[in-house]
Amino acid sequence: MGALLKLTLFGILLAFLGERTVRFSQRVNFSREVEPIELPNCQLLKGIEAGSEDIDILPNGLAFVSSGLKNPGLFSFSPDKPGEIFLLDLNEENLHPHTLRFSRGFDISTFNPHGISSYIDEKDDTVYLFVVNHPHYKSTVEIFKYDEDENVLVHLKTVKHDLLPNVNDIVALGPDSFYATNDFYFLDFTMRHVELFLGLRWTNVVYYSPKEVREVASGFDIANGIAMSTDKKYIYVAESFGHTITVLEKHANWSLSPVKVVQLDTLVDNLFVDPNTGDIWTGGHPNGKKLFFYDFEDLPGSEVVRVQNIHSDNPIITDVYVNNGSVIQGSSSAAVYKGKLFIGTVFHKALYCDFE
Ligand SMILES: *[C@@H]1O[C@H](CO)[C@@H](O)[C@H](O)[C@H]1NC(C)=O
Ligand SMILES: *[C@@H]1O[C@H](CO)[C@@H](O)[C@H](O)[C@H]1NC(C)=O
Ligand SMILES: *[C@@H]1O[C@H](CO)[C@@H](O)[C@H](O)[C@H]1NC(C)=O
Repeated sequence: MGALLKLTLFGILLAFLGERTVRFSQRVNFSREVEPIELPNCQLLKGIEAGSEDIDILPNGLAFVSSGLKNPGLFSFSPDKPGEIFLLDLNEENLHPHTLRFSRGFDISTFNPHGISSYIDEKDDTVYLFVVNHPHYKSTVEIFKYDEDENVLVHLKTVKHDLLPNVNDIVALGPDSFYATNDFYFLDFTMRHVELFLGLRWTNVVYYSPKEVREVASGFDIANGIAMSTDKKYIYVAESFGHTITVLEKHANWSLSPVKVVQLDTLVDNLFVDPNTGDIWTGGHPNGKKLFFYDFEDLPGSEVVRVQNIHSDNPIITDVYVNNGSVIQGSSSAAVYKGKLFIGTVFHKALYCDFE
């Protein structure tokens, strides 16, 4: 190869890496600082100290919370303790989250819960809880039945599949079917960082049922939270590094087709749809650097965003709560119930505030 050609190729490589570096710092929101937005009557929920990554609220006000997520590259306040599912009744005056027990035989020592989603069978009111699990940092989806009398999660089945290598979040569609997001393409730790840096947009959404498993959407820059509209006609997918929510139309054969993309400012994490208004709520990360490189001197903040009228030409996007980490760090979920806002975090506490 001639010296000039080598020099040219080297120049092109440098320009490419330079462009990716600039893009990366934007995708991570590297230098973003936040102005606080406060809410009245906030309380930290007792007993939740090592994460409340995802929250699911049943119509009767019972809330499930996944806690204790451990992931390579993420900070943890309790690295040696297995994860757990908290339950609390949001109708009570004094909130008391308690840890749910599991039916015998389920391996709690490697339990590492991530996204959760409930499904209620209208025939007999059975409550199913779907939990993304990472035993030994692998990915499974655990399907439980919630036995309210015994207050226990009865394990029904573990779902593993080649198309579900890096599951982040799920939305339950029936007693044993769901959509799931994969947040990485690569399994390997180093390749994941290359993927993250280059912004390959190779992550996807997969439909799962015992009869059929297939990719139904792709091209996301780290697909994260997933939720369904109240009329069950649309699916919403959060793209963490693109800072967007994608609206997809759901077809009778479970295929999804893209409708629109709404741009936010934050690294969007889990999504919650208000069953009364259809508004979408998310806990986001204002600054990804502070989340991924945990520093006691420069804490990751929290940002709760509400999106109203997402199907209209002018969705209303509102920062409802913002904190610099002095109260609550690393918000990953936000859910509402009767005028209260429930804020969950990747590895920190859980906050409950008035918002109306
Ligand atoms: C944060 O993200 C938004 C939306 O993607 C972008 O416009 C903005 O430049 C980013 N801010 C910083 C400080 O990187
Ligand atoms: C599913 O249905 C949609 C809309 O009717 C159609 O466009 C698509 O080709 C179907 N996909 C499959 C895999 O059958
Ligand atoms: C974080 O916010 C609190 C209150 O909103 C403020 O008192 C504190 O100085 C801020 N800390 C940093 C590091 O900006």
